[in-house]
Amino acid sequence: MHLGLNRLFSSTIVATVFAYSMDELDKYTELLTNEMAKNLIDIKPAWAMQDAAFRTNMPYNDNKLNKSHTFDRRAMSTVFPFFTSDIGHDGGIPLGFNKQTGLPILYDNFSSKLTNYNMVIFGKSGAGKSVTVKMLSARSSILMGIDSLALDAER
Ligand SMILES: Nc1ncnc2c1ncn2[C@@H]1O[C@H](COP(=O)(O)OP(=O)(O)OP(=O)(O)O)[C@@H](O)[C@H]1O
Ligand SMILES: [Mg+2]
Repeated sequence: MHLGLNRLFSSTIVATVFAYSMDELDKYTELLTNEMAKNLIDIKPAWAMQDAAFRTNMPYNDNKLNKSHTFDRRAMSTVFPFFTSDIGHDGGIPLGFNKQTGLPILYDNFSSKLTNYNMVIFGKSGAGKSVTVKMLSARSSILMGIDSLALDAER
């Protein structure tokens, strides 16, 4: 992806579909194509250029596909689904407040809405990652009776 004139972005969106057999791969490709079509998104399998497409999708920022689409800034921003209108769970630990609606946000690591119990916290240094983890473990101990064990790779 690169920034062009007039804040236009010339972009290629690539995804790799993984399967253990050709039949499975065909099945997943068809399923993905159908699901995307429901949202009016037309995706194209990289027939006869799978190798170039696969390499393009590796984290080297080297686009070997000679196909791109021009997006303006607004269109480009909708491509990244980094926001959701539905944050949090019905029960769990109070995390804070939704700045837009003012409603409290509860988070339950063991909610059946989640596919697993894992969680990862990203943030720049001093953003409050350690404070968040301490708050989560303190509140989950008091509110849900959950014991926490901390392992520090750097002792
Ligand atoms: N929600 C908050 N309200 C007020 N102060 C906060 C909040 N979260 C963090 N802080 C303060 O910000 C400072 C940095 O927080 P913290 O140590 O959690 O950052 P960090 O993301 O773990 O940083 P590092 O990557 O350096 O470990 C601390 O002094 C902490 O008290
Ligand atoms: Mg920290």
